[in-house]
Amino acid sequence: MSEKDDGIEIRIEGLVKTLRGNHVLDGVNLEIKRAETFVIIGRSGTGKSVLLKHIIGLMQPDKGHILIAGEDITRMNEEEMRHVRKRVGMLFQGAALLNSLTVGQNVGLGLTEGGHHGEKEVESVVKEKLALVGLDGKQDLMPAEISGGMKKRVGLARALALEPEVLLYDEPTAGLDPVMSQNIDDLIVSMKKQLNMTSVVVTHDMISTLTIADRVAMLDDGKIVTVGTPREIENSSEPVVREFIKRDANWRRKS
Ligand SMILES: Nc1ncnc2c1ncn2[C@@H]1O[C@H](COP(=O)(O)OP(=O)(O)OP(=O)(O)O)[C@@H](O)[C@H]1O
Ligand SMILES: [Mg+2]
Repeated sequence: MSEKDDGIEIRIEGLVKTLRGNHVLDGVNLEIKRAETFVIIGRSGTGKSVLLKHIIGLMQPDKGHILIAGEDITRMNEEEMRHVRKRVGMLFQGAALLNSLTVGQNVGLGLTEGGHHGEKEVESVVKEKLALVGLDGKQDLMPAEISGGMKKRVGLARALALEPEVLLYDEPTAGLDPVMSQNIDDLIVSMKKQLNMTSVVVTHDMISTLTIADRVAMLDDGKIVTVGTPREIENSSEPVVREFIKRDANWRRKS
């Protein structure tokens, strides 16, 4: 830990990003504490995935800064960025598996690319992480042979294989049945407890949010409109927050 360590794992300052003339992020400010599970909610198309891609350095902001453990990643070169990427993992919204590789090869990809692990070691990490996401023994299947929800879990196993300090989850429970959603929520909670992992979770799933979140932020119109504990969010008087939660409650009643 550095001298200036203040317990903030991710600090986002004045983040602005315009894509095809669309002001997607319009001055986002956020502080995410080390070892907290921080949930980001917001309407579809509001920039949640774009925000996560900035945190992992896949997108560069037009303006603003992102500091991870005090280091500004928006000013880093490729070499420095490679070190950051070892510490920050991401489960992509569409799982982003390579279709020509088996499930096991996909999970072990980061380890084989790093070149620091023997074949046996990779195999054992792959087995362990697949078991963790409920896919024990599925390493020889091809992505085309598994369901969307299983792909998502393979993506999670791949992110876990690198044992990151920070894990970004883009809609981890979307498309999963309630039991599997609960399993993923339990996994997020247990990784925080066991590994002190900092998690940033983008989700539409309010049940999941209430189960896992230490704090919740809502992104709307390119800005963070509110940050608080799950209870504070539930009781928020902010109209956009109320609207978002109300729709979810309606949906829950219908289903
Ligand atoms: N690479 C890109 N090039 C141009 N526009 C983009 C790109 N990526 C995202 N956008 C635009 O940015 C906006 C925000 O997209 P984003 O994927 O972050 O939404 P989201 O909040 O994650 O939505 P959802 O809940 O549906 O996943 C959208 O209008 C989208 O079309
Ligand atoms: Mg998205």
